[in-house]
Amino acid sequence: MRALRQDTPRGPRDLRLVTDTRVPVPGDGEVLIRVTAAGVNYADVMQTYGTYGGGPTPPYIAGFEAVGEVVASGGPAAGLRIGDRVLGLGPGAFAEYMVLPSAGTLRVPAGWADEQALGLVLNWATALAALRPLGRLTAGETVWVQAAAGGVGQAAVRLAKHYGARVIGSAAPRKHQVVRDLGADLVVDSGRPDLAAEIGRLTGGEGADLILESTGGAAFRAALAAARRVTGRVVVYGVAGGEATVSNRELNFDHPIHVIGLHLGILVRHAPRLFDQLVDELHALIAAGVIPPGRPTVRDLAEGPRTLAALEARTTVGKTALRP
Ligand SMILES: NC(=O)c1ccc[n+]([C@@H]2O[C@H](COP(=O)([O-])OP(=O)(O)OC[C@H]3O[C@@H](n4cnc5c(N)ncnc54)[C@H](OP(=O)(O)O)[C@@H]3O)[C@@H](O)[C@H]2O)c1
Repeated sequence: MRALRQDTPRGPRDLRLVTDTRVPVPGDGEVLIRVTAAGVNYADVMQTYGTYGGGPTPPYIAGFEAVGEVVASGGPAAGLRIGDRVLGLGPGAFAEYMVLPSAGTLRVPAGWADEQALGLVLNWATALAALRPLGRLTAGETVWVQAAAGGVGQAAVRLAKHYGARVIGSAAPRKHQVVRDLGADLVVDSGRPDLAAEIGRLTGGEGADLILESTGGAAFRAALAAARRVTGRVVVYGVAGGEATVSNRELNFDHPIHVIGLHLGILVRHAPRLFDQLVDELHALIAAGVIPPGRPTVRDLAEGPRTLAALEARTTVGKTALRP
């Protein structure tokens, strides 16, 4: 089958289209799907450099989010049947076929094209987890969403508005209109050197009640300073801009706030009931029209290296997908 294989840890330039890869075989509790579209995520970029925690070692078939049709099962697979159209997470998504664990796999909503369902788990469930069970958002609070024009960021802006928040989105200036169109109340330049001071100014000196921190590096430090003292929450779910630290001394004396980590894959494995609740809430939000069918930019599989390079270079807006 056709697939994109990463041969070295030197980034997207060493991602290659190959045509002689074996179709994988599903095990117990797994299904084989014919991939109709694969989601491109920032974690794919990190994996190509070997910097994603627990990520694969080259050579490996890249990609881990896909939608497609179930064509075989390796045994009982939680009610999934041949012909079902499903979306899920598993290794080797940038390929014509891949294996999905049935746990954490969703059906494509009725009336949606396959590619429109991409992002339901990785973008919408991540944003929802960050805002609700972990971030404990209540109506009237101020939320700062970083990378607000991105895959997770766009979902977070919409959901935060739906749940009654005042939303500040940060993004590169040329993406600001997209963030405003999603309903953000205020948009700030993600490249500002004084992000914490700016969020402070926009919140009357009080700080944001909740910060969705996916950028890392200096933005993580800015988030610590920009969270409302005592009750402010910072949900950390990405490190695109590099690692950053907070010490126990700082949490004690300088930033007495709540720092909360989030990794969706770990949530699916260690808190399956919480994930099921997130999925139920996503279905209700789809039925209510709060979550619309996605509109990813779809490219051919062969354009994968260029697509990952664009995500790394921060030139993408919203979700991108690859069609095998
Ligand atoms: N923990 C989880 O379970 C989980 C799940 C999904 C995603 N994530 C994380 O969420 C974040 C967003 O993922 P996504 O796939 O939706 O990507 P994305 O937001 O579509 O793209 C990344 C965006 O981050 C911003 N950014 C800021 N500093 C950056 C830097 N140094 N390098 C690259 N980008 C930088 C850029 O936006 P501007 O140019 O507008 O500043 C860029 O467009 C990533 O950190 C990802 O790893 C985590």
